[in-house]
Amino acid sequence: MAVRHFLSLLDLSPEELRRLLDRAIALKAMQHRGETYEPLKNRTLGMIFEKSSTRTRVSFEVAMAQFGGHALFLSPRDTQLGRGEPIEDTARVLSRMVDAVMIRTFAHEIIERFAAVSKVPVINALTDLHHPCQLLADVQTFIEHRGEIAGKTVAWIGDGNNMCHSYIHAARQFGFTLNIAAPEGYEPSPAVVAEAADCVRLMRDPVEAARGAHLITTDVWASMGQEEEQTERARAFAAYQVDAQVMGVAAKDAVFLHCLPAHRGEEVSAEVMDGPQSVVWDQAENRLHAQKALLEFLLIGPR
Ligand code: CP
Ligand code: NVA
Repeated sequence: MAVRHFLSLLDLSPEELRRLLDRAIALKAMQHRGETYEPLKNRTLGMIFEKSSTRTRVSFEVAMAQFGGHALFLSPRDTQLGRGEPIEDTARVLSRMVDAVMIRTFAHEIIERFAAVSKVPVINALTDLHHPCQLLADVQTFIEHRGEIAGKTVAWIGDGNNMCHSYIHAARQFGFTLNIAAPEGYEPSPAVVAEAADCVRLMRDPVEAARGAHLITTDVWASMGQEEEQTERARAFAAYQVDAQVMGVAAKDAVFLHCLPAHRGEEVSAEVMDGPQSVVWDQAENRLHAQKALLEFLLIGPR
């Protein structure tokens, strides 16, 4: 059977994704009960990080430890990748030794080239284009707090970035409507929008996007690799803070999500970030459970 990769949410069918989240919720309950479940004994996950990470690194490493396996942290600073060894050669070598590879990098094309020659599953742990693992945790969190997301309205406020692109895929795969409010020049990629055009509404006004929405979410104004644009972006996004006014027009029981790290006073006010509608800490924890379900799915099969 051909090896399955998870480079974007479109790599799994809507049914597979929905089942995977049920499994994530079940694995979470097992872990909270203190049950030991070690389906990946003696298996190894290679983790290539070309960008910083707190949640992604810790959640994947802990996931492998809880499953009885092992995770290897590989940074370009200490591997031959940083000295120019081709990505395809790295993929060929690693996939003869490890059982799966997780990659956080810049250009999405790098992970596609790796996957094209890899004999083992490759997981996208964030590229400039997508962050699909985060969406597994986000949708799981919504389901746990508010039930099914299909038929609901989600508002994305801010940059049309990698997270926004994965929300666009999620709208299609999980069946919700996505209102995107982005300033001029910072809209999501038209090619990605085209992949879910029926589910996505592009707007300028954050309040209009948030009106009646069941989930409000945002992300940093300058992503990793855009540090030099910080000042000009802060200017462009000044009117795009998720604050009490934005939350005030959303559905009464709307939840606030943020993939983190968050910048209080920039993309989100402290009042919203630390307020009663914010479920960001559950969302962060769910990275662990959702990725355990993903690792199990890719290495063993559907449960
Ligand atoms: N949300 C997220 O991916 O966090 P890290 O950058 O800390 O991994
Ligand atoms: N858009 C952010 C997400 C961080 C988890 C970035 O790429 O830096």
